[in-house]
Amino acid sequence: MAFKHFEAIEKHAGLLGVLIAVFVSIGGLAEITPLFMEAHAVKAPPGVQPYDALRLAGRDIYVREGCYLCHSQMIRALRAETERYGHYSTAAESVYDRPFQWGSKRTGPDLARVGGKYSDQWHVLHMMNPRQVVPQSNMPGYPWLLDKKIDPDLIQAKMRTLRRLGDPYSDAEIAAAPAAVKDKTEMDALIAYLQGLGVKNEPTSMKGTQATDGGAP
Ligand code: HEC
Repeated sequence: MAFKHFEAIEKHAGLLGVLIAVFVSIGGLAEITPLFMEAHAVKAPPGVQPYDALRLAGRDIYVREGCYLCHSQMIRALRAETERYGHYSTAAESVYDRPFQWGSKRTGPDLARVGGKYSDQWHVLHMMNPRQVVPQSNMPGYPWLLDKKIDPDLIQAKMRTLRRLGDPYSDAEIAAAPAAVKDKTEMDALIAYLQGLGVKNEPTSMKGTQATDGGAP
């Protein structure tokens, strides 16, 4: 009996097409819907703060310059990774990243926990011409970042937009933002951003937990 029904469906290409579309959609929804729920369930844990004005401006420069094309910001839960970079990355660390910068291309090292690893001065030299501090580096230099200033008129609009999306910026923080970025160069902003990575967005529960767990989740 059941076999007869199958035969009827298989012999009617239109019906077969419709039924395939229906069942593929059900399967797709079953996979995708929980992911959407999960994305909204990830809340910022204590210790993870939205970007302050200067770091927010620096983050946009990181995106503009395409740093993600060579650098990931996602430490995998593998021993080799956690020994080299520190605690593996968690989704909660990126709640204020829109779009997130996890990346997958690693021409250079992962940057998820690079904050505090070097001095600001090291970063300036490195950004001007990486070979000044790492002779074998093939990273390009970004000397123009020293010449351009951050636009203080834009920063409030950016923060307001992010607040609409859920970032908890207060009116006072938004009011103080233009002064915080005034006369800062793009280099200052980018370095402030780098120096906060893995420091200002690290959940307090992870502080001091280095790779002693061998990367086991
Ligand atoms: C063409 C690939 C490439 C691009 C694009 C690139 N980098 Fe790099 N980066 C590297 C490589 C390779 C290294 C390792 C050698 C070195 O330290 O210069 C590196 C190293 C670094 C380091 C030191 C990391 C560590 O732990 O020692 C930082 C910080 C960094 N890059 C930031 C940036 C930023 C910010 C940008 C964008 C403005 C950028 N990189 C763009 C390839 C790249």
